[in-house]
Amino acid sequence: MKKIRMGMIGGGIGAFIGDAHRRASRICNDFELVGGVFDVDYERSKEFAVQEGISLDRCYKSVDDLIKAELAMPADKRMEVVAVVTPNALHYPFAKSLLQNGFHVVCEKPMTMTVEEALELEELVKKTKLTFSLTHTYTGYPMVRQMRDLIAKGTLGTIQRIDAQYYQGWINSIIHGTDSRIKGVWRLEPEHAGVSSCMGDIGVHAFNLIEYTTGLEVKEVLSDLNSVKEGIKLDLDGTVLLRFSDKLKGVIRSSQVCGGEENGLTIAVYGSKASLKWGQENPNYLYMLSDSEPTRIFKPAHGYNDKFAEMSHTMPAGHPEGIYEALANIYRGTAKSIRGQAYIPGEFPTVHDGVRGMKFIHSVVQSNKMGNVWVKIS
Ligand SMILES: NC(=O)c1ccc[n+]([C@@H]2O[C@H](COP(=O)([O-])OP(=O)(O)OC[C@H]3O[C@@H](n4cnc5c(N)ncnc54)[C@H](O)[C@@H]3O)[C@@H](O)[C@H]2O)c1
Repeated sequence: MKKIRMGMIGGGIGAFIGDAHRRASRICNDFELVGGVFDVDYERSKEFAVQEGISLDRCYKSVDDLIKAELAMPADKRMEVVAVVTPNALHYPFAKSLLQNGFHVVCEKPMTMTVEEALELEELVKKTKLTFSLTHTYTGYPMVRQMRDLIAKGTLGTIQRIDAQYYQGWINSIIHGTDSRIKGVWRLEPEHAGVSSCMGDIGVHAFNLIEYTTGLEVKEVLSDLNSVKEGIKLDLDGTVLLRFSDKLKGVIRSSQVCGGEENGLTIAVYGSKASLKWGQENPNYLYMLSDSEPTRIFKPAHGYNDKFAEMSHTMPAGHPEGIYEALANIYRGTAKSIRGQAYIPGEFPTVHDGVRGMKFIHSVVQSNKMGNVWVKIS
């Protein structure tokens, strides 16, 4: 099958997630990177294109230049999809222009800066019928998909409690370092990051994982956020109480200053009959707990898994499926959608997940600002 011609905005030399996107798109083998605007600095962007063996003719100075030049090409040469992997503030303007000009979009989270922008993108995707894939990477793990299927089948009985946590520690040493080090981190600057650092960057992954695995919607939040140190403009740590209904509550705990923590994303869903626990740092193990039986462990690449989890492993059992493979699974689902092939809902997070994420982030910040009160996620 012909590869899908992909462009990329951001992801140049030294950038973090763009590199993972390229590797994932190669693992799934459905895409070919043909050009882009790889860096805010054009010289560095060209340097990157040379390194990657991408024609300098398709290394553009700006997204506007890219759109203009690509639209002038014959349809069978033109980029079909563009991955937006820049800092948060640029997702909305770039994704909007790309959709308006007929390009499918892969976009990093958080999807936009405001809820209004997110709703606008959702409308645009509905109107254009283009594919919009939001890379909440963790939804691509086989055992997260198995968890979703087990919950959908009612294996846990009535869900009674949901706990998710995402702890990192890397900002700890930065805020206790020099001012210039703090200024070098765009995640700490509202103009680049948005209204939140911790909840916007990683709390939103925990939120997405809860809604993805359970199929439930969080209805209300009450948050207590902490910017930890004088002069820091955004939250670096926080706890969010969740209400799904009168009889179902939960919590998200998230932090970027838990020294020594790496990417400690965990989720536990407790039901009347059984419970499921999964953690990102040990992603091939899904634990099922019950009061009456010994703990069971589900692992990828076994016939006992459901179809969705089964089609989400790349290697035979016992070969760890990691973050690149998870992202590759999202790229594979995205490719099916672009090609008009059938796919399972959940094979890639959508623009609607982006809207939910933005509502979560803004409700959490509002709850904290108003003195830690309950705020409805409309
Ligand atoms: N899904 C995940 O698990 C995950 C993980 C990490 C980061 N992210 C998200 O990915 C995005 C990027 O994060 P990162 O850590 O890779 O950032 P980064 O700072 O490492 O890289 C950003 C890149 O964007 C480029 N850029 C900036 N302005 C640009 C412009 N105007 N035109 C073209 N390129 C421009 C920079 O030059 C750089 O190459 C963020 O939104 C972040 O939240 C998601």
